[in-house]
Amino acid sequence: MQVIVCRDYAEMSKKAAAFVAAEMKKKPALVLGLATGSTPVGLYDELTALTKKGEITFKQVTTVNLDEYYPIDPANDQSYRYFMNENLFDRVDIDKKNTYVPDGTAKDPAAEGKRYEALIDRLGGADVQVLGIGQNGHIGFNEPADALVLDTHVTDLTENTIKANSRFFASENEVPRQALTMGMGSIFKAKKIILLVNGANKKQALATVLSGALTTAVPATLLNLHPDVTLFCTEDAVK
Ligand code: GLP
Repeated sequence: MQVIVCRDYAEMSKKAAAFVAAEMKKKPALVLGLATGSTPVGLYDELTALTKKGEITFKQVTTVNLDEYYPIDPANDQSYRYFMNENLFDRVDIDKKNTYVPDGTAKDPAAEGKRYEALIDRLGGADVQVLGIGQNGHIGFNEPADALVLDTHVTDLTENTIKANSRFFASENEVPRQALTMGMGSIFKAKKIILLVNGANKKQALATVLSGALTTAVPATLLNLHPDVTLFCTEDAVK
């Protein structure tokens, strides 16, 4: 794992954006794996600014998001589809037909997982996958467990995640108890991964990742097995 420690959130977002922009310039029809949460917002702001300046274009880009709450309507302002529209898709020149997020309204979530995995395969996996990390070390919604799941699947959220994510909802009761998420194998189909970690509250999870440990109790540690991961983190997440 290549580690890039940044002074603060603004620098982390800029450096991560420069990385993604360089990949978009190399391959205009990039398949870009995207994440939600507060961490990548700065990256999406920077990518929007670069697009407005005419330095990059999303015209040929396809995006594939990591996860979505289940069940949730895309019109719900807490859905990850809504988040992506607001924070990126509606601000850049992407063709929305080429933006994929698991369907939080699917009647059969297991079937939706299979459909989404087939889509990832059809795209040949992400060229670059953006990841954040949960306080408990989850990536996407691959929560700490005795065993992790390979493909896109429906999963129960842990109490820790429900609590952490309740800050975005009117109350904890409104946080969906399940999610559709890429599995560890779906994430590993990405050729390159960038992991963004901001803030002291991620310190413990990040320290476990950087110790080189491999444990399903901290799913992000499995990234130590991927051949091309770049970590962009803030100083306070490592010191
Ligand atoms: C959610 C998402 C993750 C994200 C995590 C951290 O649970 N499923 O993909 O990495 O939140 O969020 P934040 O960046 O707001 O700390």
